[in-house]
Amino acid sequence: MSPNVISTPVRAMLVLGTRPEAIKLAPLARAMAASPLFDPLVVTTGQHREMLQQMLALLKVPARVELDVMRDRQELSKLTARLIDGLGDVVREQRPDLVVVQGDTTSALTGALAAFYEHVPVAHVEAGLRTGVLDNPFPEELNRRLIGRVARWHFAPTPRAAGHLTAEGVPAAEVFVTGNTVIDNLLWVLEEGTGANLFESDLRRVLVTLHRRENQGDKMRAMGKALRQLADRGDVEIVLPLHKSPAVREALLPELSGHARIRVVEPLDYVDFSATLAGCDLVMTDSGGIQEEAPSLGKPALVLRTTTERPEAVEAGAAALVGTEPHAVLDAAVRLLDDAAAYERMATAGNPFGDGRATERIVAQLAEDFGADAGVLPAPTTLIAPQPDGPGSYSTA
Ligand code: UD1
Ligand code: UDP
Repeated sequence: MSPNVISTPVRAMLVLGTRPEAIKLAPLARAMAASPLFDPLVVTTGQHREMLQQMLALLKVPARVELDVMRDRQELSKLTARLIDGLGDVVREQRPDLVVVQGDTTSALTGALAAFYEHVPVAHVEAGLRTGVLDNPFPEELNRRLIGRVARWHFAPTPRAAGHLTAEGVPAAEVFVTGNTVIDNLLWVLEEGTGANLFESDLRRVLVTLHRRENQGDKMRAMGKALRQLADRGDVEIVLPLHKSPAVREALLPELSGHARIRVVEPLDYVDFSATLAGCDLVMTDSGGIQEEAPSLGKPALVLRTTTERPEAVEAGAAALVGTEPHAVLDAAVRLLDDAAAYERMATAGNPFGDGRATERIVAQLAEDFGADAGVLPAPTTLIAPQPDGPGSYSTA
């Protein structure tokens, strides 16, 4: 689907439903709102409720439409049905020039589908991430592959991600390497500098988050036990902002409550979370976004998963994929805390996810393709030659 050349402002509908989508589309909303070339039309799906609300201030533009699809523990099929129904109506009513989706959530997939059904072109931010394992992460690997079939613009954060897309047959002229907008947002928020660091002691400070569906249940409980053992060392303080998902809470709260050196807190707003990340010594997480942020701040990240779609950080030496076995999780943390040289190597490995200018590149490319006068904007990034990387799979298996 090709964009029509139209008069400005270009009406860009940004669809977002979860915490990370709000964080990663916020710089785009801000940049479009500040440009005479775009009218950003923010649509929140309500896939997340509290965790989305606490991120909306980052956008600096009010949502034009708010859906309210969250139901406690609803099945993926129900969530998908509610979203496609609601978003279909919104696209028909608003008639945007394009729809922008980010990442691999159910909101992103249904935003892309709803646009496709109404013949509206789709821009995919953070395109091309792959583990190569269809059901891990679940259901995100499928979601991002499907969005890759629908999108007209694929804004890939890294050359590797771009290579996955061209290897799958996406025309190279539709793939752009931009960096990840999460870095743009992180730098912007840290510059504001008003966040509170939640760590309270001079002990070794370990920041933990866990939420992935494929980790829920016994695996997450066992990782909770391993974290408790880590805190038993006596020289470690753990802060864990707890995801709102009841399945996560059921698994982790019984294992982590009532320990003097473990602070389980409600989800932090982005300003406080980034200050806490900047103030920690070590990150242990199954989050996607935090794998990107930690290397930017020189914080070693232990990835508590069996696969990652962000191998760039592992290859750079900034992150380690440790799996989900409790012994492996505990050993990896202990090794880093006790081996200063190994710690230093990870802390100084650097950030492979961009230079903080991804948003500029996305906005400039869209402006050019819509025939808007992009003279005031920086030149769009040139397409980096596709770099397929073999089977595209990256896992501990
Ligand atoms: C979703 C995304 C995942 C992303 C994660 C970010 C899908 C399928 N999954 O997973 O890719 O990494 O968000 O956090 O799109 N809940 C609340 N309040 C909230 C948020 C969630 O109560 O603010 C509870 C609800 O009971 C909800 C459940 O958590 O049903 C699960 O939420 P859901 O969006 O389905 O999945 P996540 O695990 O959050
Ligand atoms: N985050 C936050 N507060 C928290 C935990 C995480 O602001 O209490 C931010 C974090 O900085 C990152 C994003 O939320 O940018 C990651 O979201 P999440 O782990 O829920 O989703 P994923 O990235 O795995 O899709």
